[in-house]
Amino acid sequence: MEKTFLMVKPDGVQRNLIGEIVTRFEKKGFSLAGAKLMQISDELAQNHYGEHKERPFFGELVDFITSGPVFAMVWEGENVIATARNMMGKTNPADAASGTIRGDYAVQVGQNIIHGSDSPESAEREIALFFNEEELVSYEKTI
Ligand code: CMP
Repeated sequence: MEKTFLMVKPDGVQRNLIGEIVTRFEKKGFSLAGAKLMQISDELAQNHYGEHKERPFFGELVDFITSGPVFAMVWEGENVIATARNMMGKTNPADAASGTIRGDYAVQVGQNIIHGSDSPESAEREIALFFNEEELVSYEKTI
């Protein structure tokens, strides 16, 4: 089954949005395969956002994602990568539709509440960066 990496950023954690965000993905029908509240190191941030290294906002991006705890998650389900991106809304909250996470809860592109993998390759890379195999659980629903 397809897996994706999702992360509630420091702004989402500090605004008490973890529960709301987890609820949206649970209600959609996806399964949580792993989760942890953690402080990202500078090294992990640079690695995670490596593709943005040349962007003018890279320093800001690393400073923000390391500014407080994040809630890192792996979610599993059919087409979860693309569907989660739709549920998150456009990267810039100004362009994100109402009803999406960023459309409902964010106003700034640098503080846009949630990160989600944008492709199967990114999902595999990001899951491996944040989680060990033994931290992930895959199960059949029996109830
Ligand atoms: P994310 O999906 O975590 O991946 C890269 C992040 O860069 C993106 O969300 C935004 O939060 C951030 N970002 C994109 N454009 C800008 C910008 N112009 N200034 C600051 N941050 C940005």
